[in-house]
Amino acid sequence: MTSTTTGVERELDELLGRERFAPSEGVRGRALIADGTVHAEAAQDPAAWWARQAEALDWFERWDTVLDDANPPFYRWFAGGKLNASYNCLDRHVEAGRGDRVAFHWHGEEGETRAITYAWLLEQTQRAANALEAHGVRTGDVVGIFLPMIPEVVVAMLACARIGAPHNVVFGGFSAESVKERMEFSEAKALITVDGARRKGKTAAVKRAVDAVGMPVQTTFVVRHTGVDCPMGERDVWWHEALEAAAPERAPEPLDAEHPLYILYSSGSTAKPKGILHTTGGYLTQVAWTHRHVFDLDPETDVYWCSADVGWVTGHSYIVYGPLLNGCTSVMYEGAPDYPHKGIWWELCERDGVTIFYTAPTAIRACMKWGAELPARHDLSALRLLGSVGEPINPKAWLWYWKVVGGGRCPVVDTWWQTETGGIMVTTLPGAQDAKPGSAGTPLPGIDVAVLDEDGAPVPDGRQGLLAIRRPWPGMLRTLFKDEQRYVETYFSKWPDQPGTYFVGDAARRDADGYHWVIGRVDDVINVSGHRLSTAEVESAIVAHAAVAEAAVVAQHDEDTGQAIVAFVTLAGERAGDAALEAELREHVAARIGKLARPKRIVWSADLPKTRSGKIMRRLLRDVAEGRELGDVTTLRDPAVMEELKRKVAARGDDDA
Ligand code: WTA
Repeated sequence: MTSTTTGVERELDELLGRERFAPSEGVRGRALIADGTVHAEAAQDPAAWWARQAEALDWFERWDTVLDDANPPFYRWFAGGKLNASYNCLDRHVEAGRGDRVAFHWHGEEGETRAITYAWLLEQTQRAANALEAHGVRTGDVVGIFLPMIPEVVVAMLACARIGAPHNVVFGGFSAESVKERMEFSEAKALITVDGARRKGKTAAVKRAVDAVGMPVQTTFVVRHTGVDCPMGERDVWWHEALEAAAPERAPEPLDAEHPLYILYSSGSTAKPKGILHTTGGYLTQVAWTHRHVFDLDPETDVYWCSADVGWVTGHSYIVYGPLLNGCTSVMYEGAPDYPHKGIWWELCERDGVTIFYTAPTAIRACMKWGAELPARHDLSALRLLGSVGEPINPKAWLWYWKVVGGGRCPVVDTWWQTETGGIMVTTLPGAQDAKPGSAGTPLPGIDVAVLDEDGAPVPDGRQGLLAIRRPWPGMLRTLFKDEQRYVETYFSKWPDQPGTYFVGDAARRDADGYHWVIGRVDDVINVSGHRLSTAEVESAIVAHAAVAEAAVVAQHDEDTGQAIVAFVTLAGERAGDAALEAELREHVAARIGKLARPKRIVWSADLPKTRSGKIMRRLLRDVAEGRELGDVTTLRDPAVMEELKRKVAARGDDDA
């Protein structure tokens, strides 16, 4: 932060005491939902209420059963119903005469723009569906997608959905090694990737990197994007050639409501990522409803921008499926928020007249650092609603967002959800509920969230407990790909006498108004800039380096990224723990997992704190990393280890300052 107290900061300091922000009369007056009757209606019969929301989709065949809960925790929503996601996202809008509507105002890093219409998406999607089939992809086959933020990623996803081939999108920031692993785990038949990706003025040779590790797939489709030199092998197919050769029509496959729509790998408490599986009917129902009502969307007039990457669930649900189901116009930006300059987001908001903006607290904190002058240089008067997702938002960032970006007139919706939940679960409906900075809000209609203790009893309001979801919801994951046992163990085994209660993995408290204050993860998941990483995954990458004997990874609170990764590393051979090795280890982790997983700090430790049975006590390492008083050290084999680590961390802390 700047050391001089600017006018903005003074204003924010004054606002910090304000607990509630009520929707203005103007906001309430135009809102789709302006009071609490929807919550009450849904509470009476949640399944029936969701069934009414499912009618917003086009079904080829209506369902027999809304919710089949005969075999918990394996639930089926809208069983017997048939539909197609790509039909709902594209055809029906085009058939209704809205083919010329812009689905995405796309902006490239170098200033290029493309207006992507619904009609164009539909034609491309059908061609792509035919191209996939021409190369042997069938309904039920998994297709990997490793693409940057370009319109082709939407075409690729919807083409898969059209033929019922579940997609497995991997975030562009992951390494080729990670892609390979995810292709293996999901038994992908084909991969759709790109010649090169641009990042801050540089071009990464993506296809080369993919080739270097070798992908276990039959066909690799390559989108030509940057024109960077791109070797093509026997099993490689240019995307544009395959699409040109394909017929422009492919009927949408009528798929069962429970047909898998996609797999998305996410980090859990072990090194192996979890293949979270989402199906079609329930997921689309929840995503369409939440996108419409949480953002109070008017598809005729709004211009919506979610700044996430399609490689995360936020991109799946709120860049691709939600906005397209609702037929709205979105902005898609290829680049980083600080390239070509730190005001690019606001420049694009002004240029396209963005009305709804959805981003993550970590991005808001970065913008705060860059200064209020940057948004002030642009006309942001079209904005009317702001959203936040990915991690708890600290009140100061909330207020800055509200005041500086939203001009004090736009409601801020803080949306709590997870890859597993498919769609938003806890938030405030902007025309109906007050916002409280720092609290995500209340469960949405039809969602039953509770804060429980270790034994499964509700904790009194105001006290911290474990977040739980007590009733199945339509967008919930259905299983972990080919790992039903892990699905049950991870999510439905915390409270054995409540076999249908879903264990979230977050700590939270509820206040007297029923608002939820999420504190953070209780498992070994780290949230760096809203990106989920597992400590075990990072540890196993570090110990794979020849110089390392042992490593323990913990999270440390971080002003900018929410949490940061700290690695305690014990070396094996002769090499000394110096700056060169530190850099080498960080690059090693980048190559194994991706740059996002590089530890912010590495602490060389002659030994790690272990119990007498040899278990590493991460709790103590977290205390050290965050500079807290150490908890109980009496169970340690060698308590002196902690003193040594404390000294080291403190010494480095001084250097950093
Ligand atoms: C955290 C991202 C507080 C939480 C959609 C959750 C949040 C994890 C919020 C899921 C929020 C997400 N307030 N915490 N509004 N949104 N989280 O799977 O710890 O990448 O469990 O899904 O992010 O991360 P995931």
